[in-house]
Amino acid sequence: MRVQHYPWIVCQSLLCYVAPVRRLIWATKLISSLWPRVEPRNILKPWPQPRNFSGLLPLISYIYERGWRQGFSAVGGWPGPQKEFELIKGYLEPVLGGNIIDASCGSGPFTRLFAKSGLFSLVVALDYSENMLRECYEFIEKEENFPKEDLILVRADISRLPFVSSSVDAVHAGAAIHCWSSPSSAVAEISRVLRPGGIFVATTFIYDGPYALNPFSKLMQKNMFRLSGGQFFLSEHELEDLCKTCGLEDFKCTRNRRFVMISATKPS
Ligand SMILES: C[S@@+](CC[C@H](N)C(=O)[O-])C[C@H]1O[C@@H](n2cnc3c(N)ncnc32)[C@H](O)[C@@H]1O
Repeated sequence: MRVQHYPWIVCQSLLCYVAPVRRLIWATKLISSLWPRVEPRNILKPWPQPRNFSGLLPLISYIYERGWRQGFSAVGGWPGPQKEFELIKGYLEPVLGGNIIDASCGSGPFTRLFAKSGLFSLVVALDYSENMLRECYEFIEKEENFPKEDLILVRADISRLPFVSSSVDAVHAGAAIHCWSSPSSAVAEISRVLRPGGIFVATTFIYDGPYALNPFSKLMQKNMFRLSGGQFFLSEHELEDLCKTCGLEDFKCTRNRRFVMISATKPS
């Protein structure tokens, strides 16, 4: 082989690779066009996006403690914040003195009770709605001698809590589970942040009895999220299963008509 033929041979051998490489590029393009696009903004999006309207409108945040929540007692048998607080204290007895997240605090009826009770080393008032947090802040500002030093307000999605794992003694979620777009990812996240022995206590509505006998109740339950952004529960067992599947145990509950308070513990 003569030396002057070398460049030609090199070109020929490189050309052999061009067709397969082209085919590979074409195949990659085809596959990626069929594959769901994962763009950075999709990765960064908190999931699932809260679609619930409660607290998203300033008017709802304003009227929440000025009549809306009082309506729960009239229609659903809710005891009201002061009596609910007494029940909560009973469930949280083993973790009193520790920190607590008032998850989905709304305008903060329980945040204020937790902070004023002096029973917790730190109270975190957390909600996704900026309007609700603003209301919460204004209610606190209106109170004289309010103990603000051990209280923080945090805006976050319940399914993506900005706390390290096993760092929280108690999580309270008053009248909120039915507002969450995905109760299972929310309770799993609560379970993640609770320390072993930490307690989750929550209240919600139960639509059993004649509601559950309705042949369409399961169908309605399935589609409720699409209509309102929230959920509803047909029995305490559904809530028990929810806690169990998220790794919480020792399920307890208190019922009064549509009202239910549940509690579950992170295993030690
Ligand atoms: C009915 S209010 C409950 C307020 C208060 N905890 C109580 O017991 O009266 C429900 C709250 O859940 C909040 N919420 C709904 N989806 C949320 C989410 N994904 N993350 C955090 N908070 C959420 C709403 O903004 C609203 O303030």
